[in-house]
Amino acid sequence: MTDLFSKFDPLIEQRAALLETGVTDPFNLVMEKVESPTVAICNGRPTILLGTYNYMGMTFDPEVVAAGHQALDAFGSGTTGSRVLNGTYAGHRAVEQALKDFYAMDHAMVFSTGYQANLGIISTIAGKEDYIVLDIDSHASIYDGCALGNAQIVPFRHNDIEALEKRLKRIPEGAGKLVVLEGVYSMLGDVAPLKEMVAVSKANGAMVLVDEAHSMGFIGEHGRGVAEAQGIIDDVDFIIGTFSKSVGTVGGFCVSNHPKFEILRLVCRPYVFTASLPPSVVATAATSIRKLMDSADKRAHLWENSKRLHAGLRQLGFRLGTDEPQSAIIAVLMPDLETGAAMWEALLQEGLYVNLARPPATPAGMTLLRCSLCALHSQEQVGEILTMFAAAGRATGCIS
Ligand SMILES: Cc1ncc(COP(=O)(O)O)c(C=O)c1O
Repeated sequence: MTDLFSKFDPLIEQRAALLETGVTDPFNLVMEKVESPTVAICNGRPTILLGTYNYMGMTFDPEVVAAGHQALDAFGSGTTGSRVLNGTYAGHRAVEQALKDFYAMDHAMVFSTGYQANLGIISTIAGKEDYIVLDIDSHASIYDGCALGNAQIVPFRHNDIEALEKRLKRIPEGAGKLVVLEGVYSMLGDVAPLKEMVAVSKANGAMVLVDEAHSMGFIGEHGRGVAEAQGIIDDVDFIIGTFSKSVGTVGGFCVSNHPKFEILRLVCRPYVFTASLPPSVVATAATSIRKLMDSADKRAHLWENSKRLHAGLRQLGFRLGTDEPQSAIIAVLMPDLETGAAMWEALLQEGLYVNLARPPATPAGMTLLRCSLCALHSQEQVGEILTMFAAAGRATGCIS
């Protein structure tokens, strides 16, 4: 018998070698208690959270939590069914209405996760005969959506407008074309030149899908994302998003103005063949989305935090993923996995949690300490974070 697990041996060995050095497993941390969007108890100690996607700090919002409680009491713990059978409750319709209002769009379709939203929409609209042109650094859920639909995948160099145009021009005349982009790329926290890319896509007859997972709630005047900030949201055919970041719960969605959009509810397998979100989740999401419409002050504070952390880390001598802060994600570049893991652990001992990211999730084989800020981090906390980075950086030799 061939052991089907033997393909994982290199990874098992790499992991064992890392743990033999005595570091704590960076991919197995337990949050023993979560006190707020910015503080949790880890290993018995209060720890500042700088590695969550809780950008707008909605997880403990009293109105959001109360909506969840109410729905749990009124509708029970789960729907036990698909959206197309017994799994559409009033709350599912209400959260779709909240999304339509948030984006000012005609249609909204809610999935059980953002992963499933990409999987479902991409695989359903682009099939075997169609071409998907996508940024090479696209999220795994985008690649998996392309694979599920069996479309022809044409990747282009990250954020390279000319490369996108060249690929589009090579596609046979008359073929179906979908360009898939992200607003903010989650590894380096950099923003896409959507304005130019959408123009090039449209000029070459392609439909455009933009995943705004890491920009919703924060970027753009109304928090609709990078497409809004760059003034081209009306030219985007499909926006994908998630409830697991700024919205502060779990779930995914697609919004669109396409006149035939609603047919997707009958033909999209990751929508049809899975249970719908629990009533408490859709109630928290709807309340959170409506509150995000009116959160300009929080957006401004989050930008302040991002700028301050970026400038402070640079001043300390760390190499960062972007020259300027472009989003709520600031990536600190590490020379290798061992140093990254040592730095990650030193920060945890200081009382700070960040994300350790490594290949294949990262571009170009990089090891990163990904810092994601929250609108509820106080100025004092950002100061503490910089002090902790200075101490951990010196202890591990990352900075002098
Ligand atoms: C760009 C992007 N799209 C989609 C997803 C999937 O979102 P979810 O956590 O809701 O499955 C993520 C999650 O990290 C993401 O970064």
